[in-house]
Amino acid sequence: MKPEMEICEYSVEPEHLTKVKRYDNFNFPYAFPGNVKDQLKNIANFKAQENDILLSTYPKSGTHWIREIVSMLLRGKAEYTNEPLNSLDFYDSSAIEKLPSPRVLQSHLPYRYLPNAIKKQGRIIHVSRNPKDTAVSLYHMIKKLTFMYSSFSGSFHALLQCIFYSDKFPYGNWFDFVKEWERIMRQENRGCKILHLEFEDMKKDLKSSVREIASFLDLNCEDEFLNVVAEKCTFKNMKNGKESNPQPYWKDCTHDGKMPIFRKGDVGDWKSWFSDKDNEKFDKEYARQMRDSRLTFQYSLET
Ligand code: A3P
Repeated sequence: MKPEMEICEYSVEPEHLTKVKRYDNFNFPYAFPGNVKDQLKNIANFKAQENDILLSTYPKSGTHWIREIVSMLLRGKAEYTNEPLNSLDFYDSSAIEKLPSPRVLQSHLPYRYLPNAIKKQGRIIHVSRNPKDTAVSLYHMIKKLTFMYSSFSGSFHALLQCIFYSDKFPYGNWFDFVKEWERIMRQENRGCKILHLEFEDMKKDLKSSVREIASFLDLNCEDEFLNVVAEKCTFKNMKNGKESNPQPYWKDCTHDGKMPIFRKGDVGDWKSWFSDKDNEKFDKEYARQMRDSRLTFQYSLET
């Protein structure tokens, strides 16, 4: 009989492997704690509170950015938080349950695996980013990490193969992820409230995005405070502020011991990484996969 959970090593290029925990036809990070089935059960049964906010992203789509904004707004203080991301994926959910409310939770999982209580009546902020910049950002991040993407040190082309043309990476195929989220966001009778933000809109007009987030959180904030939050959360300010006081866990998670999040924070960096052939292939796949989708993505900020 086939085991429920398998440790899979996929050969991406002859000498490069990705290692994942495969369960339920989905590739979970190898660093997912213990048995995937048990961890998913814990996540599904997570005891959510009314004020919890869940941040949802495909990796490298602005998780730390939205987290900082939400955290500042909820605390009413335009100061960077030094708490770790409350990742439902990697942490012991009973430890997160003990944290005081309002709690900012984070997950890269598809909607179907999220806590039932949040799906029923919680609040979710879902941030999406154009897939080409997401791929470039992911490529740079995984080279730095000692965990999560385990031994992968393949080429950029291999990475594109893993996330767009197969599902060989943790968290699976990008198209599958966004299509599931779109289906849920279009559902009229779902219980939870979802705010969908685009990375590129935040980049274009952060003040408006901060205002929109505050309103979704039912916070009555002074305009001046919202402006200070937006200013604190520009790429340059966040990079300076967060890198000068990184959470200690980054030391063990990266090869150089440094926080690997704030690279460029741009829209359109993909143009330096995608060859004409990569681009053509991707656009064709996008047209095929997303033919029924109403989602749009912004690949540059020029109008
Ligand atoms: P790049 O690698 O393209 O620079 P995540 O937090 O999901 O891992 O996403 C990281 C990406 O978000 C990185 O993209 C990072 O630079 C970008 N980012 C983080 N904070 C940002 C900010 N304040 N403004 C713009 N981009 C930001």
